[in-house]
Amino acid sequence: MDAVEMIRERRSIRKYKDAMVNRETMEEIVELARWAPSWANTQIARYTLVDDPEVLERLTAEGVQGFAYNTRTLTNAHGVCVLSFVKGKSGRLDKYGDYDSSNAYFWEAFDAGIACQTFCLAAHAKGVGTCIFGVIDDAAIAGIVDLPDAESVAALIVYGYPEEEPKAPPRKGVEEISKYI
Ligand SMILES: Cc1cc2nc3c(=O)[nH]c(=O)nc-3n(C[C@H](O)[C@H](O)[C@H](O)COP(=O)(O)O)c2cc1C
Repeated sequence: MDAVEMIRERRSIRKYKDAMVNRETMEEIVELARWAPSWANTQIARYTLVDDPEVLERLTAEGVQGFAYNTRTLTNAHGVCVLSFVKGKSGRLDKYGDYDSSNAYFWEAFDAGIACQTFCLAAHAKGVGTCIFGVIDDAAIAGIVDLPDAESVAALIVYGYPEEEPKAPPRKGVEEISKYI
């Protein structure tokens, strides 16, 4: 799969086959995701992979604010990644003195976002479907997976072997989203 195909053909998958993705494959996906760029190479993204059915059930019941759409997706999945990030590192350039970004929280989320898409593209390249969840209860999720205090939950990424081939939702035109000056 070349990069163009990988970018174009990745879709959010909400129906999964009744099969686990083995841990070796997920390790390969995390191995690829860690090549994502990050603020000053701080590499703050963390991947907590949940394949324990009981923990998955709890995340389904308590981690998505009862949002039916997400509950349905999680109910037919066998794996979910709790994507988190280590707080207080991105947005700072301590070794150069007074060069803190005015909005460190923004850069933390930015790093997590890049890591998130890299994870999803890597999974797609390995035949594993994903769906990013933003409608989540981050505090509940942190409690369920016992996240260290130093980290914050960024998103859930549901993963598994796709049971559907969704049509691509339309994209805005290049002329609508870009300009030259
Ligand atoms: C930050 C973010 C949050 C999202 N939250 C949800 C969600 O809570 N539930 C869901 O089913 N999809 C969610 N999505 C998936 C989007 O709906 C999806 O990426 C978009 O419709 C484009 O479709 P595609 O990913 O198949 O190209 C989210 C995507 C992003 C980037």
